[in-house]
Amino acid sequence: MTAHPLTNTSVTVDDPHIRRNRNGHPILPGGYGRSAYHVGTTPRYAVRGEGWRLWDDTGRELIDANGNFTTLIHGNAHPKITEAAERAIRQGASWGIPNLPEWDLADAMIARLPGLDQVRFTNSGTEAVMSAVRLARAVTGRDGVIMTKDGYHGTSDLALLTSGPSRGVPASLADDTALVPVNDIHALRTVFDRHPSKFAALILDLLPNKAGLIRLTPEFVTEARALASEHGTLLIIDEVISLRLAPNGFIGEYNIVPDLLTAGKVIGGGFAIGALVGREEYMEELNCWVPGSLAHSGTFSGNPVSTAAGAVALQLLTPEEIARINALGDDARASANAALEPSGWEVRGYGSLLRPFPVGARKVDTERQNRLWQASYERGIVLSSANLVALSTPMDAEVVTDLTERLVDAVQSVVNDPEGRR
Ligand SMILES: Cc1ncc(COP(=O)(O)O)c(C=O)c1O
Repeated sequence: MTAHPLTNTSVTVDDPHIRRNRNGHPILPGGYGRSAYHVGTTPRYAVRGEGWRLWDDTGRELIDANGNFTTLIHGNAHPKITEAAERAIRQGASWGIPNLPEWDLADAMIARLPGLDQVRFTNSGTEAVMSAVRLARAVTGRDGVIMTKDGYHGTSDLALLTSGPSRGVPASLADDTALVPVNDIHALRTVFDRHPSKFAALILDLLPNKAGLIRLTPEFVTEARALASEHGTLLIIDEVISLRLAPNGFIGEYNIVPDLLTAGKVIGGGFAIGALVGREEYMEELNCWVPGSLAHSGTFSGNPVSTAAGAVALQLLTPEEIARINALGDDARASANAALEPSGWEVRGYGSLLRPFPVGARKVDTERQNRLWQASYERGIVLSSANLVALSTPMDAEVVTDLTERLVDAVQSVVNDPEGRR
């Protein structure tokens, strides 16, 4: 037990596995390598994964519905992806001159994203969004950015402002941002009416998880496209999660072409990656043959392990496989919702992404969210810390039925124990 230096409250990190510094504190702050692991309980450690299965350090077999936060669309250690990564590692892991797998992955992405011409790789979705914003600011000569309230675009200073002021982020940054509630066309028009030439970029996630996993309406997206064009603002669609949902990205389902698109997660086959994809007229800003082009680099950007693994992952993500796991998701939602109807909860989402919420709610309080994560783990399924379920291609109907039954049982246990007394 140690006193937290800022709040003076006591925090307990009592896992005997946690290694400590000489003052007795965990070497990793809070005991974690990243905050997203936190689910309000002493964590177990992942030790091995294969397909949809994951084993923790107690030897327990689990259904991996987290998939490293939607990344592992082909499950754990897919043989073909592993082989591609292994080959790349044996050839040198990363180099300081260009490599060929970059081209393979860029080709695969451009083939999926009609209307977009060029790709620049980053190490994460966060960096891709940061680069997209810088590019939009350079193109337009403006600073302002519009985002949806409670959207999530990573952990850059700017992106954190979607949920309001954030400690550690300069308050002045908020002067350049406007937040619009999801699907609120009137609010979006008002922002543009008030400041017609302020905004460099409008960033949208078509299925914002943090804002309730409700997809943007086609009317909202069409209006957003029109307003952005009319006001000289670049439309950035953030497909870091949603790219998995349709053969041409989720934009394909809306029939719109953004000016810039950000990607990550599935495009790296499980390895660190992000990408900025865009129309040539804008991406040309990154053309270093042109004097005055924008600075963009990153020691590991476009590294051959991530790009070789990612190119195979996209090859395996055929329209048929996307349709199959989306249909499994639709069936799971339908059966979960039939079972959960009396409980006042529902399972929401689109295709292969599902998440339980109290009916009509956009958020679940952290305490209940943590309890649902724990109840699910007790029943042998690993969710994301926000309770998002991501199906993967190694799953079949039998696995997804099993997963759904366990999830429903976990939700019911949380509903039947509202105070968390157990
Ligand atoms: C829509 C969206 N954008 C950006 C990001 C940031 O990506 P990364 O975690 O790779 O930095 C995420 C991560 O979950 C995301 O969901």
